[in-house]
Amino acid sequence: MAPTNIFKFRAATLAAGDERWFVEAWDSTLPYLAAIGSTNQWQYIPSNLPGAVDKVKKMVADSDISAEKYPVSSPAILEGGIPPPDWARAYVASIDVKKEDIPIALADKYSSVDKDVVSIPVGAMILQGKSSEYVRSVIPEQDEKEPFIYLLFLMTDHRAGAFAKGSGSALLGIAKEEVKNLGLKRLCGDCWRGNGRRLVGYYEGQGLMAIGDFDVPKNEQDSWEGCVVEWRT
Ligand SMILES: CC(C)(COP(=O)(O)OP(=O)(O)OC[C@H]1O[C@@H](n2cnc3c(N)ncnc32)[C@H](O)[C@@H]1OP(=O)(O)O)[C@@H](O)C(=O)NCCC(=O)NCCS
Repeated sequence: MAPTNIFKFRAATLAAGDERWFVEAWDSTLPYLAAIGSTNQWQYIPSNLPGAVDKVKKMVADSDISAEKYPVSSPAILEGGIPPPDWARAYVASIDVKKEDIPIALADKYSSVDKDVVSIPVGAMILQGKSSEYVRSVIPEQDEKEPFIYLLFLMTDHRAGAFAKGSGSALLGIAKEEVKNLGLKRLCGDCWRGNGRRLVGYYEGQGLMAIGDFDVPKNEQDSWEGCVVEWRT
């Protein structure tokens, strides 16, 4: 059996330049998606899209602002029982790797590091206090009766190969902890449901259930097929 990776977690920050790594890691998922027949999940190379780069930067900036405003995740920060809409948390999962074991795809990036063991970021996650606009046909922005936090972004750095495996699942564990720390019972998120709902299947394997499909029109003929997933304590 392959050894289990052990990850460390920290907040992603603009101060650490994490938004640049987020975009690199996002880029790294495209060849993987193409290889499994999921090209239509994320069609464009994020680093080539100013909109995507700005979006990532804003998500990390929002997390920085939220961490200042709400340093501790506890029921005390809820407003009328629901998370504040500006609550956000961006996370990085890292793993310690011996310098000689750093995968080739990352070798250049760490070539000048003068350490025997290097901590490399391998997984990224962003949570927020409200749902994304494009899922509102399935769930509202927030639910007063059954409030939730929302999984906005989850990915692993495919350049890290086997060192990244399991970091997405481990970050989902952190998301579930955030739900509990806030005194809530629900984590929601969405994913692409094309390619035979394979990614929905991944989330189901992580304990999140599909609760509704939605379609975001891309043009007159085509739409992005999504599914909202949910985990309850
Ligand atoms: C989804 C993800 C975060 C899971 O990370 P993880 O918990 O560390 O798990 P792994 O990366 O080992 O993936 C486990 C399995 O999930 C499935 N999977 C992962 N991403 C998938 C995707 N986009 N579509 C379909 N199946 C996917 C695969 O079956 C994979 O097994 P494989 O390694 O044999 O291909 C990570 O695989 C990833 O970054 N995928 C590409 C980007 C993505 O789809 N992010 C989620 C957006 S909602």
